[in-house]
Amino acid sequence: MLNTAEAPKAHAQLQAWIEEIAALTKPAAIHWCDGSEEEYNRLCAEMVDAGTLKKLNDAKRPNSYLACSDPSDVARVEDRTFICSEREEDAGPTNNWMAPGEMREKLNGLFDGCMAGRTMYVVPFSMGPLGSPIAHIGVQLTDSAYAAVNMKIMTRMGSQVLDVLGEDGEFVPCVHSVGAPLSEGQEDVAWPCNAEKYIVHYPETREIWSFGSGYGGNALLGKKCFALRIASAMARDEGWLAEHMLIVGLESPEGEKTYVAAAFPSACGKTNLAMLIPPEGFEGWKVWTVGDDIAWIKPGEDGKLYAINPEYGYFGVAPGTSMASNPSAMHSLSENCIFTNVAETDDGDVWWEDMSEPPQHLTDWKGNDWTPDAETPAAHPNARFTAPASQCPTIDPAWEDPKGVPISAFIFGGRLSKTFPLAYQAFDWNHGVYMAATMGSEATAAAVGQAAIRRDPFAMLPFCGYNMGDYWQHWVDFGAKLENPPAIFRVNWFRKDENGKFMWPGFGQNMRVLKWIVDRVNGNSGAAVESPIGLMPTHEDITWDGLDYAKETFEHLMEVDKAGALADAEDQSELFGRFGDHLPQEMENQRQAQIQRLQDAPEVWKLPD
Ligand code: GTP
Ligand code: SPV
Ligand code: MN
Repeated sequence: MLNTAEAPKAHAQLQAWIEEIAALTKPAAIHWCDGSEEEYNRLCAEMVDAGTLKKLNDAKRPNSYLACSDPSDVARVEDRTFICSEREEDAGPTNNWMAPGEMREKLNGLFDGCMAGRTMYVVPFSMGPLGSPIAHIGVQLTDSAYAAVNMKIMTRMGSQVLDVLGEDGEFVPCVHSVGAPLSEGQEDVAWPCNAEKYIVHYPETREIWSFGSGYGGNALLGKKCFALRIASAMARDEGWLAEHMLIVGLESPEGEKTYVAAAFPSACGKTNLAMLIPPEGFEGWKVWTVGDDIAWIKPGEDGKLYAINPEYGYFGVAPGTSMASNPSAMHSLSENCIFTNVAETDDGDVWWEDMSEPPQHLTDWKGNDWTPDAETPAAHPNARFTAPASQCPTIDPAWEDPKGVPISAFIFGGRLSKTFPLAYQAFDWNHGVYMAATMGSEATAAAVGQAAIRRDPFAMLPFCGYNMGDYWQHWVDFGAKLENPPAIFRVNWFRKDENGKFMWPGFGQNMRVLKWIVDRVNGNSGAAVESPIGLMPTHEDITWDGLDYAKETFEHLMEVDKAGALADAEDQSELFGRFGDHLPQEMENQRQAQIQRLQDAPEVWKLPD
């Protein structure tokens, strides 16, 4: 059964590990992925035969496929995600934990024979440009061909990674199974998975084990599991940052380029901001995309911070993506893509909510007939596209630069319909860390009425691979070492008026806020006034060319409601209290200072006239 003779390189440790996992999971065959086009096409063709993929109309969507998952396997499973450090307190109060010994025993049971009747794919991948000093290598063993082909789009995958690994290079071992062994003669289903799911990380030994799901972040282990959870733990040990951030370059008409990194929770607009098209009034400005989901950031020898996008593709939310909301994403999707859980048109193309006027007839993501009067959406709300980053028309020329791009500002934004102003700047680094640590967001699929605010510190709540309190301390310590740390900003595109309408037009218009940020960090014209919660732009500090936006509305948008902001600061003590002595004293000091400033403020703080 074991055909390790096929192995292209003699990396003894890699070989031994593969043999060990194969002995446990008992696959029918082992295939080493070389990452070639030929291999990709063959695996996709096999999945078309098996009913897992549907080939889309080549005239409409060349070289692209549609996958529809089992309706029980449609998103990451946060309640089944574990950080298994030796000590529970090192996982912290915001992660699920189980003792590593206990978890290993549990997983050994589940993985025993779990690949029976299937092929185990060996998927070597690099997070970051091959050979970059910021990059790291992983090897995923998976019984899902769907995961293997998605990994080809999302990472630098294949033989060239083994060349970098050589005979003794370091790699993060990632074991993945859909948990659906096939007995002799048993027919497979289109989307195999298991009702029992485990997404497990051992941060101390840097290992990932994922069982039961074939979807997204559960199955493409280079993404959230490696590039955020394991990498955040590596980053703490080694003095860098692994963040849930987009990276974007803003080029002025004079050719001055400023890069910023921005963290927003899942489904809160990172892809939109990463691919922003400057609006009317910003002629000559260019916005360049480096990454839309993850940033790895390291201090350079010149004292600046340098960021890379460790990914090679986009795994973006499809619904809501249109030529109006994100033309660059739409162009990126024109060919060579995999779509998951979107609807299919009668002529073999894809459709999702808000892409365009709904067609008269579709096949929905569950395979049922769909018409515009249907009560359920045609695409699942978390339907996604997998697209090569290189197809983005605004991809930054430096996106694969192994050095990374210099970061001048960090931006944090939640989805908050009340209380929070459009934009403001932290007084200093530690105040910025406090702003990010206390970031909240309303649940995206929230029920109507009073939306519950979920604290999502740094947009990393589901992605921090160790104690979140220690992570805040790491940010404090990291900034203290920087001579000239990037400025930190908070933004909120989602404030609503009394009638429930968004007060800010958002999308391309967010460029106005980005320009203020660029002006601030480059010491250009951008001024700011001190409010109780941070430094704010006045109406004059924002460029309004090309947009008819009432000064009063802007000033309303920037108000700070004392009672609301104080209630929020009080509410933060619940979050802070959970960390015990892992809470950095600095975070509580910042909270007290914020309360003090608010107590000294008027009932409604307004921008000066
Ligand atoms: P993950 O891939 O899940 O990490 O998420 P993401 O942050 O990349 O999310 P994505 O870009 O897919 O978020 C899209 C959602 O944000 C949609 O509901 C958009 O309508 C909304 N959105 C993006 N930008 C804006 C904006 O400027 N204003 C408003 N009101 N909504 C926005
Ligand atoms: C997110 O949920 O933040 C994602 C999608 O980017 S997934 O890769 O499935 O985690
Ligand atoms: Mn994400």
